[in-house]
Amino acid sequence: MIDDLINVADFERVAAEKLDAGTLGYFAGGAGEELTLRENVEAWRRWRFRPRVLTGGAEVSTESELLGAPLAMPVLVAPVAYQRLVDPEGEVGMARAAAEAGTAMCLSTLATTRPSELAAAAPPGRRWFQLYCFRDEAVTRAMIDEAVGSGFEAIVITVDAPPAGNRERDRRTGFEIPEGLGVPSVAAALGVDRAVTIEETFRLMEPALSWSDLGDLASDCGLPVLVKGLLTPEDAELAVQHGAAGVVVSNHGGRQLDRSLATGDALSEVVDAVAGRATVLVDGGIRRGVDVAIALALGADAVLVGRPALWGLAAAGAEGAQRVLELLRAELELTLALCGCASPAELDRSHLRRAPATSVYSAE
Ligand SMILES: Cc1cc2nc3c(=O)[nH]c(=O)nc-3n(C[C@H](O)[C@H](O)[C@H](O)COP(=O)(O)O)c2cc1C
Repeated sequence: MIDDLINVADFERVAAEKLDAGTLGYFAGGAGEELTLRENVEAWRRWRFRPRVLTGGAEVSTESELLGAPLAMPVLVAPVAYQRLVDPEGEVGMARAAAEAGTAMCLSTLATTRPSELAAAAPPGRRWFQLYCFRDEAVTRAMIDEAVGSGFEAIVITVDAPPAGNRERDRRTGFEIPEGLGVPSVAAALGVDRAVTIEETFRLMEPALSWSDLGDLASDCGLPVLVKGLLTPEDAELAVQHGAAGVVVSNHGGRQLDRSLATGDALSEVVDAVAGRATVLVDGGIRRGVDVAIALALGADAVLVGRPALWGLAAAGAEGAQRVLELLRAELELTLALCGCASPAELDRSHLRRAPATSVYSAE
C-alpha cells in the first residue's frame, strides 16, 4: 500500500480515512476560521523559480549542517503533541523514522513519551526538546535536565502558546484527549505517578514569560536555545540579543492566532533581521520539496514539518513517517537539480520571483 502513496497529500488522505472525526480534527485543524492554516500552505505557492541551467553541477546532495552537525536533509520533524493518538508507538515510531531518514526530531513537552524513554526506545539520532515554560521554575528545570541527560541537543522554547488557540473543530466534535493518555514529561517533572491531563498542564504553564526570562534560560540551560513561534524582525532581534542560538518562524501551524502572517510571508524579514547571527528555521504549510526549496532560497537554514510527518505516522506507522520524510528529501533533491544547484546552500533569492498577480492559477 505504502508504495502507492507518492506525495504528502496521498498520506494525508489515507490518514484521514483511518482517524475518527475528533482525532482528525485535532491534528488537521487550526484556530478560528482557519485562514492562517490555509494561508501557510498558499504562501509558498506565491513564488516561482528562476532556475539556472548549464551550471555544470555533477552530484546533487540535500545534505546540510545544522547547529554544527550533519543532516541528510534540511527538513526536520516539528514538535507535535500526543502522537500516540494516531499510532501505538507514537513518538518512538516518529523518532525511528527521523533517525532512519537521517534527520532530527523535535520532541514536544506534550508528547506521550518522555525524553528519557524516547532515548532508550528509539535508535540513536539527533533530537531536540520543545519546552513550554512552567510557573514553577523547578518543573521547567527538571524537564531541561531530563532532556540534557537523555542526549537531546537543543531546547526549543515555544513562545506562541499558552494560551491555547480557539480550536473550533475540537469544540464541534467534542474532542477530548482520552483519559489515561497523560503528559509523562510533566508527570516526571512534578514527581507524580499518575496521568497528568492537558488541562492541568496548561494551568501549570507560565502565561507571562518575558524576554528577560528567555535570556536567563538561554544562559543557564546548557544547550543551544531556539525560540519557536515568532513572526517579526523585531522579535527575532530580541531573540538574538537574549542569547538564542536560533529562531523558528512559526505560527504553530495556524493553531494559535488566526489571521497572523503566513510563515512564508514572514520569513524574509526575519532572515534579514537575524543577518547570519543565529540559525533561522521555519515551519507551517510545507507540503512539498518545492516548498522546502523556496524557504531555503528565502534564507532559512532548514524547515520543520508537523502534519506531513504525522500523516505518515497515522497512515503507516514509523515506516509511513519515514517514507514522507524521504519523499520530501527526494523532491528537494530534484528541485535543486532543476534549479541548477548542487546543494541547499546554493539556493538564494536570485532563484525566486513573486508569482505574477494574475496567472491561470489565480482562479483556483
Ligand atoms: C496537532 C498538533 C500539535 C502540535 N503540538 C505542538 C506542541 O506540542 N508544541 C509546539 O511547539 N508546537 C506544536 N505544534 C506546532 C508544530 O510544531 C508546527 O509548528 C506546525 O505543525 C507546523 O505546521 P505544519 O503542520 O503545517 O507543518 C503542533 C501542531 C499540530 C498540528
